[in-house]
Amino acid sequence: MKILILNGPNLNLLGEREPSVYGDVSFDQYFTQLKDKFKSVELNYKQSNHEGELIDALHIASRQVDAVILNAAAYTHTSIAIADAVKAIQIPVIEVHISNVHAREDYRKHSYIAPFAKGIISGFGLQSYELALQSCLYEQK
Ligand code: DQA
Repeated sequence: MKILILNGPNLNLLGEREPSVYGDVSFDQYFTQLKDKFKSVELNYKQSNHEGELIDALHIASRQVDAVILNAAAYTHTSIAIADAVKAIQIPVIEVHISNVHAREDYRKHSYIAPFAKGIISGFGLQSYELALQSCLYEQK
């Protein structure tokens, strides 16, 4: 099984950005652990701060992988274009958030992507990605 983890804006700063909300581990560090733990999965990771690049990555992923684990970060709450891309592609997209977006500012409570996502995992720290991954493997059974 091939899975792409796709991270949006500011998630390149994980580990140093608001550690009380997002933790003190960089995504690269976490990704290494994740790859070790899920050896049976062909796991790829991409991050971009640019909306169009995230859309391009979703289009390409739809031809290359079985599922996408997407943390669109702030674009979750603003981007109709990314939501349209998620709707357009044929593979499942799982929406993830490190923080519990429903326990934060009101503007984080709405997701344009959620209606087109396979499911949403939010609030488990970096473990949200692992839970999403497990849901993909569970689906496969
Ligand atoms: C986030 C939550 C978003 O509201 C925020 O803009 C982010 C990260 C999360 O993973 O908790 O950048 O997606």
